[in-house]
Amino acid sequence: MNQRVSNTIQPMSSAPDYVKNEKLKAWVAEVAALTQPDAVVWCDGSQQEADALFAQMVEAGSLIKLNPAKRPNSYLACSDPSDVARVEDRTYVCTSDPEDAGPNNNWESPAKMKDTLKGLFQGCMRGRTMYVIPFSMGPIGSPIAHIGVELSDSPYVVVNMRLMTRMGRQVLDQLGSDGEFVPCLHSVGHPLENGQADVKWPCNPTKYICHFPETREIWSFGSGYGGNALLGKKCFALRIASTMARDEGWLAEHMLILGVESPAGEKSYVAAAFPSACGKTNFAMLIPPQALNGWKVTTVGDDIAWIKPGKDGRLYAINPEAGFFGVAPGTSEKTNFNAMATLKENIIFTNVALTDDGDVWWEGMSKEPPAHLIDWQGKDWTPADGKAGRKAAHPNSRFTAPASQCPSIDPNWEDPAGVPISAFIFGGRRSTTVPLVFEAFNWNYGVYMAATLGSETTAAAVGAQGVVRRDPFAMLPFCGYHMGEYFNHWLRMGHQIEHAPRIFTVNWFRQDADGNFMWPGFGENMRVLKWVIGRCKGQADARQTTLGWIPRYEDLDWTGAEGVSREQFEELTRVDTDAWREELKLHAEWFAKLKSRLPRALDLKRELFELGMVD
Ligand code: GTP
Ligand code: SPV
Ligand code: MN
Repeated sequence: MNQRVSNTIQPMSSAPDYVKNEKLKAWVAEVAALTQPDAVVWCDGSQQEADALFAQMVEAGSLIKLNPAKRPNSYLACSDPSDVARVEDRTYVCTSDPEDAGPNNNWESPAKMKDTLKGLFQGCMRGRTMYVIPFSMGPIGSPIAHIGVELSDSPYVVVNMRLMTRMGRQVLDQLGSDGEFVPCLHSVGHPLENGQADVKWPCNPTKYICHFPETREIWSFGSGYGGNALLGKKCFALRIASTMARDEGWLAEHMLILGVESPAGEKSYVAAAFPSACGKTNFAMLIPPQALNGWKVTTVGDDIAWIKPGKDGRLYAINPEAGFFGVAPGTSEKTNFNAMATLKENIIFTNVALTDDGDVWWEGMSKEPPAHLIDWQGKDWTPADGKAGRKAAHPNSRFTAPASQCPSIDPNWEDPAGVPISAFIFGGRRSTTVPLVFEAFNWNYGVYMAATLGSETTAAAVGAQGVVRRDPFAMLPFCGYHMGEYFNHWLRMGHQIEHAPRIFTVNWFRQDADGNFMWPGFGENMRVLKWVIGRCKGQADARQTTLGWIPRYEDLDWTGAEGVSREQFEELTRVDTDAWREELKLHAEWFAKLKSRLPRALDLKRELFELGMVD
């Protein structure tokens, strides 16, 4: 292997002395032989290393350094327009038996997929550096944590993984000589031949995001973006981890975790699953309306929860991540003050717009857009373009931020034992049908509601947007095995633990006939959250409906509220039986697809609902 020596980062053909894991060394050597990078760099996770990579990417034109007076130590990356979101149709779960992957995943046999991938990875890192990125999902050494190692030819991936996970040398120390790790192989799939110049955002029109749950491996080719490339996140912490969790009796979920403290100082924790770009980051960082004196919300995580039964019969959750990869558009001081405060420094922005003074802007950041911007594709942009429908920031543009910078971060967010969960909340983006909030009668009803959750598709994945699809548990794109079996796992987990959390459904996105949101959302969601906590403590009232327990107007605390009248609230919480009869047909269609492994208990629940909806 050639040695291309950079003056700041020392590449090496063999592993540094402190690497003691022979299996890891052998795998790195094997991948280097296959992909033929010019150099191999073992990442130590240090600030100097990150700074050198940032400088190198700025020099190469693939990152813009933002104005340090406005946004210290922060950068903007703009991707290739063909590589802007997760590619669900190119994402595979490869199991020996196609039934094990289920109808919710694309499938190929492990042997055949490995053949295809080996062909694609052959020489794919020529002209590039391969980075060895050791990372821990979860606080290093936590009994709930797991280690992964990503091999990637993208320096952008390295600096993002450094913010999103605990990354670097201390992970290798924890791994020791015989620790287990999940191998995660990634390439942008754009080899450079004979000194050929690089492009700003290398990627490949052919993309494969592949999971091998039986051998716990990940191979990702052709994309440099988000969930396709930061393999600790959706690929490991959800798709591979969900299969580990099924086998070992725990849960790996697409959930935020938040803490709620009452004025009396009583603390509860809640985990909530909303599909991609449906409000997890915002809910996790919620600031209660000022008039709700003394209520406080703290953030444990905004995207992923690993949840295990504790000895006391409760469920304990950790956030396996160390950073936020959050949706930029719609984020403002008004909607999410805590996110804006988190973004003050040390941030990587991707696909947002650049201001004339070297800062960033996106739709919704301020009411009035700046008079001139460079949009995410590098073109001039003025408010007239905005009026004509051209967005300055891509709808799936994102920020990568260290969680430790968040003003609302929970004091226990890194507790290796996790935090005890009192309630699960499931929510989708539904302009009709689904009420603002309701509580399931019991665990099985709650699992049914989560299993049939519908949501309008968003820009977080490539494909049609605004189309209602079933997104059970907000996990449709992330469950690494048959969804019917996953439902069964949830049913079992609830019955195995003594203190199962209560289960709620919410919908912040009901619209009126003119397409306006009927619920103010954001901080006002505290009123719903307060009712949820009240239900858990047996202190809040409700009316019984066919769907579950729904608050009456007087059951919510409206102190200091404006804008939602009793009539509007009644409309927001009305059970529209005609709409639900139609909805139940969609549930039946959805269940038919999962028939071979669908728990009978859920089909029975559907029949009960159908009976309940007969006037
Ligand atoms: P992923 O990171 O893709 O998993 O998404 P997420 O669930 O964390 O979504 P996020 O909180 O970033 O919200 C996505 C979009 O929904 C943003 O544009 C928000 O402004 C908007 N949003 C969040 N909460 C609310 C709400 O209560 N009401 C309304 N109307 N919009 C909301
Ligand atoms: C999502 O799509 O749910 C995300 C962003 O959180 S990504 O990391 O791309 O999966
Ligand atoms: Mn997500």
